Amino acid sequence: MSSKTVTATALRFTDRTPASSPARITVITDSSARTKRLKQALQRHINVQYATLPKTCARLSSDDQLIVWADLKSVETIFAIRKFLDQNRGVTQRIFLIEDRIHPASAQAYALGATHVLIVDQSMTSLHRFLRDSAAQNPNAETEAAAQHSAQMLEASFTAMSNGELVDIDGLQDCADSTISCLNRHGLSGWLGVVRRHHKATYQHVLLVSGVLVDFGISLGLRHADLRTLHLAAMLHDIGKAKIPLSILDKPGRLEPQERLIIERHPSIGFDALQDNPRVTPEILDGVRHHHEYLDGSGYPDRLSGSEISDIVRMLTIADIFGALIEERSYKPPMPRQQAYNILLQMTTRLETALVSAFETVALER
Ligand SMILES: [Fe+2]
Ligand SMILES: [Fe+2]
Repeated sequence: MSSKTVTATALRFTDRTPASSPARITVITDSSARTKRLKQALQRHINVQYATLPKTCARLSSDDQLIVWADLKSVETIFAIRKFLDQNRGVTQRIFLIEDRIHPASAQAYALGATHVLIVDQSMTSLHRFLRDSAAQNPNAETEAAAQHSAQMLEASFTAMSNGELVDIDGLQDCADSTISCLNRHGLSGWLGVVRRHHKATYQHVLLVSGVLVDFGISLGLRHADLRTLHLAAMLHDIGKAKIPLSILDKPGRLEPQERLIIERHPSIGFDALQDNPRVTPEILDGVRHHHEYLDGSGYPDRLSGSEISDIVRMLTIADIFGALIEERSYKPPMPRQQAYNILLQMTTRLETALVSAFETVALER
């Protein structure tokens, strides 16, 4: 990809952690008719403020729920929404309403920073259901359950791999929907916090990467089927580490050159083990084998460069590096997300600039 803006359609694919009871709803629209409809729909909610684009000076706190309903085809409106969100970066629930599930509207909403996109219907059913569920939900409990299920499947996969048995791909895919749902409903920050609190070492790394990569896909407006592909690629990307001695894998500090050579075998070990598995597609195999390749040809194991590296691998590599930087290990605290993102920004010859730019909201805001 060479374009500056990354969208779902530009990719060569084949579909927040607020308190459980937000303090206030802020509604932003671009017309009095839309405001009127939302006032009717939200009349039972006691703490709602309304503002109209393009001029709004509403200030939100991080616990607020923001609802945006506006024409996302209008350049002026998009500019006004972006400006408003720039001034209110801490808001963790940004709900965009769109008229129908046409791809550009949904992708535009996510590009603007939506955490949830809902379809408007006559009686605002989806909005009512969302507000009811988000008030009732305990986000941590749902995320903990989803991460625990993923960790169990991951452990079973690593055990199968080290015993030379077939990895249960269906079992891994069973975790995809709950992961996607958690990220959609509660955001990436919640996922990262739960995973770092409850999971260790390689499993922590893989669960972080799966959350980051799926959330990257959500932010780009990818289809559900593509999010499932990203999830599986992330869950399997380091499966070859099942064959690497723990003394090297979990070694604190710098690796000796000989140890580095051993650890660098994990992509091809994973590829070799999965290539005869009938449930593993070529794009997943590509991710497993090539997630340490760089655009300038300095990666491994095949020293691919430029167009030889697919989109899914480019995304996986970004998520993998970011996930590794923000990991919590016994010998190192997690690096702040801003600092980790700055490192990605410096890898200009290795990573795709447009994708790293598109990754900014995932890295810093979601
Ligand atoms: Fe790896
Ligand atoms: Fe990794």
